[in-house]
Amino acid sequence: MQKTYAAITAVNGYVPEYVLTNQELETMVDTNDEWIISRTGIKERRILKGEGLATSDMAVPAVEGLLKKRGITANDLDLIIFCTTTPDMPFPATANILADKIGAKNAWGYDLQAACSGFLFGLSTGASFIESGRHQKVLVVGGDKMSSIINYEDRATCIIFGDGCGCALLEPNNEGFGILDSVLKSDGAGRSFLNMKAGGSLKPASHETIDAKEHFAYQEGQTVFKFAVTNMAEVAAEVMERNNLSSDDVSWLVPHQANKRIIDATANRTGLSADKVIINIDRYGNTTNGTIPLCLWEWENKFKKGDNLILAAFGGGFTWGAMYIKWAY
Ligand code: UT7
Repeated sequence: MQKTYAAITAVNGYVPEYVLTNQELETMVDTNDEWIISRTGIKERRILKGEGLATSDMAVPAVEGLLKKRGITANDLDLIIFCTTTPDMPFPATANILADKIGAKNAWGYDLQAACSGFLFGLSTGASFIESGRHQKVLVVGGDKMSSIINYEDRATCIIFGDGCGCALLEPNNEGFGILDSVLKSDGAGRSFLNMKAGGSLKPASHETIDAKEHFAYQEGQTVFKFAVTNMAEVAAEVMERNNLSSDDVSWLVPHQANKRIIDATANRTGLSADKVIINIDRYGNTTNGTIPLCLWEWENKFKKGDNLILAAFGGGFTWGAMYIKWAY
């Protein structure tokens, strides 16, 4: 009997309207367009503006669009996995908030925290519920309102991050399409290089933590860069090698959008030509959990049934991984 795989059967995305350009950042911190483009590849990013708007408010239009595309309702969903580093609140889970907002009465759900690798970890986790036969429709959402944890006086971080959200629906497939393999890794020894120091049980919010700006994302850029550039490329190559995929066999590389130089290194290591590498970092920056689903959403019309996709990510934790998907539609 043919094995059941979890196939992506629909994708969608949402980015807020407000465009924060490099030119506007030049007026906020000591930086310049040329430096940002040459070091990161980013020209602009989106920011969710407005009182009372959170990560789940970007997920709602993304998910409602996905349900419409697939011709199903929120009540058809069995499980919602919300991959985010900027949940609406520490608890309850943003998955629960989203379920309420879209009216998904039959789904259970939870949040998944793996920083920039979250969406890959979420796809892999969601796939297990499909492969086991427990669920028929698993929604995996990846989104972040990074602007809520960015210090717009810190030029080392504020130029990189943006807001956005994407989502994918997983359903069973018995014809050999779907998520065929993944290599996922984490190493907590890297936690000091990319984190948010306060607001957790280690350092609850206090006047001191606020004065010390410890509720913002902190990054030792160069160190993270060195780990990211090697590990993301290695793990992408590993998943290709163990599935006997040459660069000719791969149609698309879908990399986490953290830095154009890290994407280029991954493309070089895997031998994939530029036309196969999906890049939207120039328009959206690093949306953390949003990068990979936003890429899938924007390139969906170019994918053909049977295309081999390699997804790869690296993020805080450290966490990293790569996934091999045979596109199902
Ligand atoms: O998605 C999760 C994982 N995150 C990543 O993968 C991000 C990895 N890191 C990076 O992408 C890069 O390290 C950054 C884009 C964050 C920084 O680029 P870099 O090439 O590593 O720059 P750097 O930190 O080594 O700084 C080089 C110089 C420094 O000046 P000096 O000491 O050489 O005089 C910085 O002060 O550039 C300076 N600099 C800037 N200059 C203009 C740092 N930030 C800026 C800025 N504008 N925004």
